[in-house]
Amino acid sequence: MREHGVMTASDRPSSASTQALAAGPAVGVAVSGLVLVLFLLVHLAGLVPALVNPAGFERYAALLHRQPWLPVVEAALLAALLLHPALALRRALRLARARGTAPALRRSRREGAGDGLAALAAAQAPWIGALLLAFLAVHLLQLRWHRPAAGQELAALQAVLRSPASLALYGAGSLAAGLHLFHGHEAAQRSLGLLDPANGTRIRLLGRLLALLLGGGFALLALLLRVSPA
Ligand code: HEM
Repeated sequence: MREHGVMTASDRPSSASTQALAAGPAVGVAVSGLVLVLFLLVHLAGLVPALVNPAGFERYAALLHRQPWLPVVEAALLAALLLHPALALRRALRLARARGTAPALRRSRREGAGDGLAALAAAQAPWIGALLLAFLAVHLLQLRWHRPAAGQELAALQAVLRSPASLALYGAGSLAAGLHLFHGHEAAQRSLGLLDPANGTRIRLLGRLLALLLGGGFALLALLLRVSPA
């Protein structure tokens, strides 16, 4: 039982059997989500030198692409990217079938600062997730599928961000990632059985700080890269 925070209808199982039905996919959603959060932290840290040390950034990108383990890490990342929404959908459908309600029907309870936003993010998670996937499809086509020549990484990045439509998409994608994480971190800890009344406030705060760091960080980075000299 939770003492603080936001609880959506899908987080509040109506019976032990409903809980058991959703438990398998929920653990997969949590683990794949946490893998993606870890990637986003590394990704953001890897991009900051593009602003403050362009030569270092080009060296880092060239070195990264020479690593024999990179395809393995990319395959694991792709698996997490595909599994996360697929398992989340499966869990929502199982819960909806067990309760006889539509997956989008979620209620929330406001208790403190930020809980309204977390409840909104939870209720809109399917749409926020769809926006994130659309952003990622464009993002990977622009910057991963078409690899820039060595030493041209920053120029390719700035060329993409020079387009107002692209910049708006990067802003939306970054904010969607932050919003998703605003409720997702706590939900993942709950699914893994790590959330309890003693650590709930700490875990919630950590998740929200991570959300602000990643959502705000990527959005700000895109903006600064756009205005920094080519
Ligand atoms: C300011 C915002 C962002 C910028 C400038 C940016 C830049 C880049 C660049 C340059 C690459 C190619 C890296 C490489 O091949 O070495 C890349 C790859 C990637 N980005 Fe981003 N990114 C941003 C935001 C995001 C966000 C918000 C997400 C996820 C929600 C994301 C997910 C990915 C993924 C999954 C890859 C592929 C990684 C790989 O296969 O190695 N990016 N990004």
